[in-house]
Amino acid sequence: MTELSSGIDTSRPHPARVYDYFLGGRTNFAADRQMANRILATAPKAQLTARENRAFLSRAVRYLVAEAGIRQFLDIGTGLPTASNVHEVAQAIDPTARVVYVDNDPLVLAHARALLTSAPQGRTDYIQADLRDPAAILESDAVREVLDLSQPVALIIVAVLHFIDDEHQPGAALTTLLDALAPGSCLAASHVTGEYNRTGGTLAVRMYRTCGVPLRLRDADEFAELAFRGLDLVPPGVVPVSDWRPEDGGSRLTADEVNCYGGVARKP
Ligand SMILES: C[S@@+](CC[C@H](N)C(=O)[O-])C[C@H]1O[C@@H](n2cnc3c(N)ncnc32)[C@H](O)[C@@H]1O
Repeated sequence: MTELSSGIDTSRPHPARVYDYFLGGRTNFAADRQMANRILATAPKAQLTARENRAFLSRAVRYLVAEAGIRQFLDIGTGLPTASNVHEVAQAIDPTARVVYVDNDPLVLAHARALLTSAPQGRTDYIQADLRDPAAILESDAVREVLDLSQPVALIIVAVLHFIDDEHQPGAALTTLLDALAPGSCLAASHVTGEYNRTGGTLAVRMYRTCGVPLRLRDADEFAELAFRGLDLVPPGVVPVSDWRPEDGGSRLTADEVNCYGGVARKP
């Protein structure tokens, strides 16, 4: 059986499930594992990239709650629920933290219940929506009811911008979202790069595009300009995700092993 009751086809590889496989999750099928292993044959560090990206997400959320004092999160491009979802990381520090999750993929919606297990003092909600339509996100009942936009919000757009082609104007979408947020709000973002492995990058782009996913790799400068223009970058700035405030004595990985940049910045 390849068609789940939700209408989701398991016979074709799916990027969210490929990412889940790289993270060591269980929401993946033979077709996903096959594609993951083909990517690994040319880009052997792809699994490391996924895991380091996910670890960056956790560290960024801990920073945002514990050091930046933020209690509200808008996490766009949530992905399949896995270990250390944003509300779990944030609510481990402050159980009153509130999170709105957003993804445009019906597969994530089918699994979203795991994202809605908020601590009783906090709140979470999930909407299916697209980063390319930021007005729909801002006008959603979930955002209106769960978040207070007069107070700082952390916008989390981690490992998503590389799925948006230039022609769909990801920069304009970010501007619309950030314009709606109060001063002191933050953006945490990460982005896969082909800067250190052009061959592997080209193959990954081709493979994702065969699944209908427009992968667009960007170098460090392009990512910094796209995501953080006009914002105050929190030290250490835009760096390989493993070098962003590593918690246990520093990263021992090099940029060409990680192939993913990350950063956090504050809206003045
Ligand atoms: C690689 S996963 C990242 C998951 C999580 N943010 C993390 O870093 O662990 C990318 C997610 O972004 C979602 N996504 C891609 N393009 C999107 C768009 N235009 N709007 C909303 N979500 C999108 C995909 O469906 C997928 O679930």
